[in-house]
Amino acid sequence: MSAGRAPKAADLAALERAARAAQARAYAPYSNFKVGAALLTGSGDIFTGANVENASYGLTVCAERTACIAAALAGHRDVRAICVVTDASPPASPCGMCRQTLLEFAPDPTQVRVIALGPDDARAEWTVAELIPHGFTGKQLDPPVTGVKAPKSARKR
Ligand code: THU
Repeated sequence: MSAGRAPKAADLAALERAARAAQARAYAPYSNFKVGAALLTGSGDIFTGANVENASYGLTVCAERTACIAAALAGHRDVRAICVVTDASPPASPCGMCRQTLLEFAPDPTQVRVIALGPDDARAEWTVAELIPHGFTGKQLDPPVTGVKAPKSARKR
């Protein structure tokens, strides 16, 4: 799949399956609120994440961010879509910290889809731009930082 094209239905179906499977790997003994996430990169790869809590509650890391970190560590810096699964109905949307993290890796925030699923057929969908309008980016820095490229090893095959 090319970085600029909309994700295919088959990619999105695989993404949803991966996010549901990832929810089972959540470590959430304190909140008991298990979150699974799967993100699709421009190259068509899928990376998963789940929330990982800590007895020192503030150290908790959300599912969306663990998925972004897994992708970034593999050299992928272009999120095309992310699917988030919780047991909440209506489906829960990403927290503010995760929205900012998604913005970092969204080549065009108006095109990156955020799909939220609940335990049943309930679903909701937004773009990253809708979830974090007027967000802070590297463009505001001096000098501006734009178009951060992935390492060669992770670019499109
Ligand atoms: N959580 C996520 O994983 N993603 C979000 O966007 C919101 C909250 C997690 C953090 C914590 O482990 C639990 O859900 C309850 O807040």
